[in-house]
Amino acid sequence: MNLDAWNDVASQVEAMKKTNLRTLFKEDPARAGRFTVEAAGWMLDFSKNLITPKLMRKLIALAEASDVKGWIDKMFSGSKINETENRAVLHTALRCRPDRPVYVDGKNVMPGVRATLERMGAFADKVRRGHWLGFTGKRIKYIINIGIGGSDLGPCMATMALQAFSKRNIKVFFVSNVDPTHLAETLRCVKAEQTLFIVASKTFTTQETMTNAKSARDWLVSELGDEKAVARHFVAVSTNEEKVKAFGIDPENMFGFWDWVGGRYSLPSAVGLSLMISIGQKNFQKMLKGYNKMDRHFQTAQLNRNIPVILALLGILYNNGFGAQTYAVLPYSQYLSRLPAYLQQLDMESNGKSVDRSGRRVNCQTGPIVWGEPGTNGQHAFYQLLHQGTKLVPADFIGFCKTHNALGDQHDKLMANFFAQTEALAFGKTADEVRKEGVPEKLVPHKTFEGNRPTNTLLAEELTPETFGALIAMYEHKVFVQGIIWNIFSFDQWGVQLGKVLATTVLSELKEPNVPMLHHDSSTNALIRRYRATLGRRQ
Ligand code: F6P
Repeated sequence: MNLDAWNDVASQVEAMKKTNLRTLFKEDPARAGRFTVEAAGWMLDFSKNLITPKLMRKLIALAEASDVKGWIDKMFSGSKINETENRAVLHTALRCRPDRPVYVDGKNVMPGVRATLERMGAFADKVRRGHWLGFTGKRIKYIINIGIGGSDLGPCMATMALQAFSKRNIKVFFVSNVDPTHLAETLRCVKAEQTLFIVASKTFTTQETMTNAKSARDWLVSELGDEKAVARHFVAVSTNEEKVKAFGIDPENMFGFWDWVGGRYSLPSAVGLSLMISIGQKNFQKMLKGYNKMDRHFQTAQLNRNIPVILALLGILYNNGFGAQTYAVLPYSQYLSRLPAYLQQLDMESNGKSVDRSGRRVNCQTGPIVWGEPGTNGQHAFYQLLHQGTKLVPADFIGFCKTHNALGDQHDKLMANFFAQTEALAFGKTADEVRKEGVPEKLVPHKTFEGNRPTNTLLAEELTPETFGALIAMYEHKVFVQGIIWNIFSFDQWGVQLGKVLATTVLSELKEPNVPMLHHDSSTNALIRRYRATLGRRQ
């Protein structure tokens, strides 16, 4: 991180610690308007943050000193900013207008993007209209997406988010865990004759996905009694045609994407096929339009009016200036239940790094721990700590003015809770206010709320494919900006490798019929022996 620019921010943080949100709101009646920005159907009210106009200017200066604008241009123009993998980072091309060329290594990638979208659309239509038939001639009623990480969390989260736009007579399931329970329990809900498996894996080598895919194929063949059934019940989404062929899926039934799309950024690529079957190609296109609107905003808006940039800077303020270890994502929308899980991968896999772009130890704290649950559920579980605990937990509150499910005044109640929570967190309740209510002195400290707990409010008119796409793009770009400022590479994920390699060795030791030679530490050796003994394997 640029420490000169950061030190300017830090000096303002010290000033900020001497005041609070009550005072700041009292002193500036225009504060809410001053700290509100709108783009792509979203309104960000960031006035309930621990900021002053001066502190915001210092944060913007930090972004400028880190050349955020320059990096944005590099990303959109296809530079290989994923240096450790020598790749461009062009998920934005997936939602670009197809007539605008985007070049990687001198080649326009847009015709390929358009062709894949068209093939996906034609396939999704066939399945939705009942024209793609299973091996025994029945229409498809169940989709099972087999994938993990970026090949699961995105489509799974989005299919739930856009359920209101879905074709309700097609049920979409997501199997990710190598725990056999995940697949087995899912298979109990479907009929082989009417099930289509989408095997989604960028590399087509991921242990969990390939294992589940093989078990699913064995199940299908045994249920339908013919190997030939696989061709009607399995399609693949991958960048690796060779491996798809080797698995036994005809490349005709493969939907490709490219190495310049990171797994956790791949929802708008062919990885979204399950979503497209659920909501249809028109709604999928609307989602891409929403992504694109936020992309345009990010690319063109001034830094101080730029929603992803502002969110990134506020996150850095708490992470680096106030020592916050975590931040909470609190969607007041049951449809967005899986958003926190999705953002965990997006943020923690991108910015969970401790060396900088030159390979040296970073000079600052990097990515936070991301967590959250939908409101109002969280209010009855962990909000106690948010209000009165010793830890500062900045939070994003996300909600919609209109509901898809009008039931009495339920939506009003939901949103009343949303607005009341950010108010309570910001302004709390003083000891004097508690006393005035006649609370006995002994209980006053317990019923006092310090307040001054920062939140962002993200509000849109309605959850639609467009506002949804814009929301996801907003977070993608926020994470990117934070990585730029922390001077780390956000688009690789080398930290997932070691565990994968060790698991291969341990697996062979668990399964080895003879007594295996164990060369681990005493704890790991003992665990392996215990497992083998429990299953009656030789010791
Ligand atoms: O192990 C992490 C990871 O590589 C993620 O980055 C990725 O989204 C996930 O595994 C799945 O990878 P694939 O799509 O290649 O199966």
